[in-house]
Amino acid sequence: MDPVMLVLRIFHVVGGTLWVGSAFLLVRYVGPTANTLGPIGAPFMIEMFKARRAARYVTSVALITVIAGWLMWFVDMGRYGGLEPWVTSPFGLALTIGGVLATIAAYFGITGVGNNVEKLVHTADEVRASGGPPTAEQGSRMQHLSEEIARHGKIDIALVLLAVVAMATARYW
Ligand code: HEM
Repeated sequence: MDPVMLVLRIFHVVGGTLWVGSAFLLVRYVGPTANTLGPIGAPFMIEMFKARRAARYVTSVALITVIAGWLMWFVDMGRYGGLEPWVTSPFGLALTIGGVLATIAAYFGITGVGNNVEKLVHTADEVRASGGPPTAEQGSRMQHLSEEIARHGKIDIALVLLAVVAMATARYW
């Protein structure tokens, strides 16, 4: 038993589970529900993303998964005797494809979803503090951010699910 790999695996698989589950729920249900509810949903989103920092939590578990994954990838490469034998083995190829997809998903998830959600919630909080309806500029900013979040969210979920399929099946390739 290799205790370092054991610990990395625990961080990796627990992190990946929390990341993918949370991202799916946020993109598929929480975001569309908040959009439909509009101003009624705003306090919920402000509490969730500003006070409870939900986007930072998803970013953290995504980074833990990706970092632990690449560390294990390098250890495995050493065990297979170098880059070429590793990425041309069925197990190594599946993990490399899954790893690259998940890393791209993490990048889009953090920049295109998480950061934009925080900007959106910040604007919604400004509107709430003003006590009135949003100005035209605030309205169009929120509209633009919502569209960006929805677009990146869909790409993110597709990539992350493909990555999970590759990871889950890697040892049977
Ligand atoms: C969507 C995010 C991810 C999830 C849910 C996930 C899940 C998993 C699971 C369940 C396993 C165990 C597979 C098995 O034992 O048959 C695994 C293994 C592995 N994953 Fe990921 N993974 C993700 C992202 C990544 C990334 C970004 C990398 C970076 C290269 C990576 C690299 C690896 C490696 C190298 C292993 C094999 C570790 C070993 O030799 O024990 N994974 N992953």
